[in-house]
Amino acid sequence: VERTLVLVKPDGVARGLVGEVLRRVEAKGYRLVALDLRTPTRDLLSRHYAEHEGKPFYEPLVAFMSSGPVVAAVVEGQRCVEGFRSLAGATEPTTAAPGTIRGDLGRDWGLAVQQNLVHGSDSPGSADRELALWFPSL
Ligand code: GTP
Ligand code: MG
Repeated sequence: VERTLVLVKPDGVARGLVGEVLRRVEAKGYRLVALDLRTPTRDLLSRHYAEHEGKPFYEPLVAFMSSGPVVAAVVEGQRCVEGFRSLAGATEPTTAAPGTIRGDLGRDWGLAVQQNLVHGSDSPGSADRELALWFPSL
């Protein structure tokens, strides 16, 4: 069965939206396989976000993601990679569709990085790579 990495980013944890995000994941019918609250190191984040190195938002992104605790979840279910991306909505929270996590709960704060509450792996290949980084023992 397919697995994906879901992160509730520091803004989501700080705003008390962990339960709301996990509720939507479970209500969709996906299964939580592992769950962890931790502040990610810059080393982990530089590997997680390797594809964005050199982009203007890279440094603010790594700074933001290492600024406080995140909830990392291993989520399982048929086509859950695509399914969670659909639950999360578009990257930019201001215009993400209502009904999605970002569209319902996110907004623009005028900061250097889009604070958009959640991360979800963008392909099954990315999911395998990211799960190995975040949950090496799984
Ligand atoms: P993730 O699920 O977090 O990977 O989001 P995504 O796949 O929708 O976006 P992407 O992987 O392209 O970018 C990773 C993160 O960088 C985003 O979630 C945003 O937090 C931030 N980001 C991406 N693009 C921009 C941008 O153009 N400007 C700013 N300020 N931040 C961005
Ligand atoms: Mg991405």
